[in-house]
Amino acid sequence: MFIKRDDALIPSFSGNKVRKLEFIIGDAIAKKSNTLVTSGHTQSIHARLTAMVARKLGLDVSSVLYSEKGDKVEDEERSGNLLLDVILGAKITYVDGYDAIDHALSEVVHGLRQNGRRPYLIPTAGYAPLGALGHVNRFAETDSQAAEMGIKASHILTASGSGGTQSGLVLGKELSGKRIKILGISDGAPKGQIIRNVMELTERTRKLLFASDEKNQVTATGRHHIAVYDEVSGKSIASLKGRLLTQSNSSPR
Ligand SMILES: Cc1ncc(COP(=O)(O)O)c(C=O)c1O
Repeated sequence: MFIKRDDALIPSFSGNKVRKLEFIIGDAIAKKSNTLVTSGHTQSIHARLTAMVARKLGLDVSSVLYSEKGDKVEDEERSGNLLLDVILGAKITYVDGYDAIDHALSEVVHGLRQNGRRPYLIPTAGYAPLGALGHVNRFAETDSQAAEMGIKASHILTASGSGGTQSGLVLGKELSGKRIKILGISDGAPKGQIIRNVMELTERTRKLLFASDEKNQVTATGRHHIAVYDEVSGKSIASLKGRLLTQSNSSPR
């Protein structure tokens, strides 16, 4: 068994969430945003990491955080990720339950614009094609490290919740042409929901990566076009493309 230590990524204590923000934050900077806006549970690692990154880059951050009915936010503010959000200076809007997030988010974004800020909205858990791209990259990285170490893996196991992490790995594997299986282990979300999310985001991410998805659906070749996405983060995507093409040119194990 080979364990990929993404928990050792910097910033600390953020694991798979770091890779999701890599391309998302690149996009926020390219769009000259000055306030990151995101959402999640009051103990969300993703929201806390977004606050850390914002602080590091000198951006503001607004988070819409939900707690379960009956949870006392005052108590939670004294511990875990929420305590860090508060210390990091995140402007927090608390809502009662997951379903209240969308409405609160649009109000927060509207209010920021009214005040002359340039908000950048990051979906809950970084569930977006740009977030999944970080994990496409992770597949290529893991695959080449495994090859260097002489490891021939049959499966990659990953935790799966929103499905963003798994989508990136699935697409990375697909583009590499490797036969390895990607197995998601639910963090508690229903299996059917995870499968739907993974399928949907894999598709959207494929479209983001390749201007013409029809002839590039399964394996990477030298004919990919990604210029349309240069405005997102040209250098990073060019580097990702290079890695994918290198991967696809090596013979499947
Ligand atoms: C370490 C780790 N990896 C992956 C995941 C799955 O993240 P997601 O499916 O939301 O991308 C989680 C969260 O459940 C996690 O804690």
